[in-house]
Amino acid sequence: MLTNLKELMRYAQEHSVAIGGFNGPTLESARASLEAAQELGMPLILQHAPVHEPFISLELAGKIMLALAEEATVPVCVHLDHGDSAETVMRAIRTGYTSVMYDASGKPFEQNLSETREIVRLAHSVNVSVEAELGNMPHNFRGEMTEYDPEAFYTVPQDAARFARETGVDALAISFGTVHGVYKAKPKLNFDIIRQVRAQTGGLPLVMHGGSGLSDEDYRTAIACGIRKINYYTYEALAGGRGIYDAVAQYPQGLYFHDAAMAATKAMREDVLRILRIFGGGGQ
Ligand code: 13P
Repeated sequence: MLTNLKELMRYAQEHSVAIGGFNGPTLESARASLEAAQELGMPLILQHAPVHEPFISLELAGKIMLALAEEATVPVCVHLDHGDSAETVMRAIRTGYTSVMYDASGKPFEQNLSETREIVRLAHSVNVSVEAELGNMPHNFRGEMTEYDPEAFYTVPQDAARFARETGVDALAISFGTVHGVYKAKPKLNFDIIRQVRAQTGGLPLVMHGGSGLSDEDYRTAIACGIRKINYYTYEALAGGRGIYDAVAQYPQGLYFHDAAMAATKAMREDVLRILRIFGGGGQ
């Protein structure tokens, strides 16, 4: 059943868990995430980011995710990830997304605040939830980044208090040492940032971006500190790729694309099952 982010954040707060936000730029990845969530009976966020528009438009991805959500046996929010302009946000809302992220974290604080406030006003008037980001985060999609100083990106807890109060966002993505993409070295996480932002914002649901590649213990600690949504895609997509490598080895005479797609879906479902058990507070 289709729901919005506000409802899922309420659930996550009540149960002290994090809801997984999985990007679905292909039918296979969206189905894999949903099948895993349904197997565990856990709510889910299916999301699409403009960076994936070369593969599939926001509108078509949205319609696929909405169709899956309508049929789902668990609550599913269809969310725009990293909306980069008011126009992109409006495209998502017109398509039927129930939640949008407006990411102006690369802009000066005052500009981020005023633009986000306007998006919240618009989105809330049509019952669409809003996630924003404070504290910019680096990308390392293909392992090209060698060194970075995580402290340079950290969210300032005092800024978060004013930002939350004046924008009215439903969830806030913060920077405390995670990176989008793959980690070349062990991530340097500062869990105190999560604790402080949570205290300063009166318990606002907080979002971890760059959720691939942490240790099980790191996920658990982050959730215990107040993370309520975890964005996870890179390692799911890599698992899908490995599934295809294995299928190639199994079919030396030639691999049909539908077999490759099925192998990728199965591998991604396994990966999401594993990670959702951790997000939901269970064991392996
Ligand atoms: P990963 O690249 O770590 O999977 O994070 C995905 C993400 O944060 C999407 O917004």
